Amino acid sequence: MSGQCEGKVGFVTGAGSGIGRAASLALAREGAKVLVTDLNFEGCEETVKLITDGGGSAVALKLNVADEVEVGKAVRKAADDFGTLDIAFNNAGIAGPMARISEYPDADYHQVIATNLTGVWFCMKHEINVMRETGGGSIINTASAAGLVGTHSASAYCAAKHGVVGMTKSVALEYAKSGIRVNAVCPGGIKTNMVASADRDYPGFASKLEQNEPMGRLGEPEEIANAVVWLGSDSSSFTTGTTLAVDGGYTAR
Ligand code: NAI
Repeated sequence: MSGQCEGKVGFVTGAGSGIGRAASLALAREGAKVLVTDLNFEGCEETVKLITDGGGSAVALKLNVADEVEVGKAVRKAADDFGTLDIAFNNAGIAGPMARISEYPDADYHQVIATNLTGVWFCMKHEINVMRETGGGSIINTASAAGLVGTHSASAYCAAKHGVVGMTKSVALEYAKSGIRVNAVCPGGIKTNMVASADRDYPGFASKLEQNEPMGRLGEPEEIANAVVWLGSDSSSFTTGTTLAVDGGYTAR
């Protein structure tokens, strides 16, 4: 039986751990060749090993999404190495500190925006340029439940993620007639290094997040990866400009 992404080429950022790793594995399992990118190159190599051990095809590349020159080269590499670019998952992100705005350091604000918002913008810009040459594709951006509702003590993160939702809708409209679909996935609390690290810095963070989830549990990275596969595949061919909440009901309240 052929996979949902058979013959396609994928490009994933933040693929060295968590949601990006799970999505890279899922895309490869469904038949895509994947350019696995992350600031953390060792993490990329581990992801690639997991894919190739499972019989899939992937290449690792160090990439800082906040650097436009690097982004342009990385996106071009996916098309050059694999012949085209069909699915781009712009997922790299950082949490930043937890603090109310009056105590929030400016430097952290700028870093969160540079990574979580401008990074997605750079990626989309270069992916669209390649996809216009190669005949179209599907872009999926990782926003967050914090891209749909406010979050206490995370104004920079929340601003970046609301921005990702906005630019997803705008770019979807710009290229709706060009065979390029652009959607966002909005995870709720997911069991990844991001949450583990916040829990180390702010003890009790993870259990509070879990209690706030209507399902009473955190999500698994694979539960986001499944949505990414659907949005990347032709099964979602009439879906563009949407924000898909995969959040256990968090934003339903
Ligand atoms: P994670 O920490 O496991 O993965 C994030 C990856 O992004 C890391 O491998 C990190 O090295 C990479 N990264 C950070 N800055 C980068 C940069 N400048 N350039 C390239 N790569 C960079 O965390 P997780 O949870 O897998 O995060 C993935 C995305 O999901 C992020 O955008 C995050 O904001 C989002 N998200 C996560 C939620 C959660 O509860 N875990 C909830 C909602 C959204």
